[in-house]
Amino acid sequence: MAKLTLEQLNEVLTNYEDFLLKYRDKYPTEAIEYIKQMFLGRAFREDIEIDIMSQVYAATGVFKYVDNAYDRHIKAMQRDYDLNRNLIEVGAGFYPAVAEKIAGIQEAGSVTAYDPELIVEEMAQVILKKSKFDAKTDIKGADMLYAIMPCEATLDAIEGANENDIDLYLALCGCTHFNNWSILWGPTTWGRWFDYVVSEVERTLPKGRKYEIDESDEFQYPTIKTYRKIY
Ligand SMILES: C[S@@+](CC[C@H](N)C(=O)[O-])C[C@H]1O[C@@H](n2cnc3c(N)ncnc32)[C@H](O)[C@@H]1O
Repeated sequence: MAKLTLEQLNEVLTNYEDFLLKYRDKYPTEAIEYIKQMFLGRAFREDIEIDIMSQVYAATGVFKYVDNAYDRHIKAMQRDYDLNRNLIEVGAGFYPAVAEKIAGIQEAGSVTAYDPELIVEEMAQVILKKSKFDAKTDIKGADMLYAIMPCEATLDAIEGANENDIDLYLALCGCTHFNNWSILWGPTTWGRWFDYVVSEVERTLPKGRKYEIDESDEFQYPTIKTYRKIY
């Protein structure tokens, strides 16, 4: 159960006030109302991670004090990949918290964050792209693409990474995002969506690359990773 000490609470509340002053007019009205309603509320106490809130918790320092999936994903990426390279994040969110954290620990390379809903116009060390990403997006020079629970951007992330033959770290979310035509196949259960996502990874995987599905207990949903094969 997530809990802050009084001292931590005072610190994050000050950060939260600054955050609201800076960004409240940038968010869609419903989103900022939702943030105000949810901030450090019941979902937080019950360890329920909601992307829009997690972004705010990362930005206001709450995540310095509580276990969270963003930091676990970053650690998992560091375990398996060199992050001191040119990275692309697809579906970075309103506030690109993961990109900010990775850019902060990079000793070399860059992070370019794509999301049509970005509310941030400038961020130290992060190249911000307030636009949709797809397989045709020019990412020449990129070494790796990651996407953390990217919802409807899932297939674009897979195609983009494989089209450019770069490493992929894809942390799946719990929803399904079939294209219209594939709904015709039958019920859109998560299992069917997962099979479909894996089949898309296989279909588009470049020669000389392998993929791996990580279903460890560390995360609620599986992570799909691709690597260049080393013979
Ligand atoms: C569920 S949110 C996850 C945000 C973030 N990764 C996080 O975990 O906090 C999915 C995000 O993907 C973005 N998105 C959807 N389609 C996209 C695309 N084709 N390219 C880039 N971003 C996209 C949405 O705007 C949304 O912010």
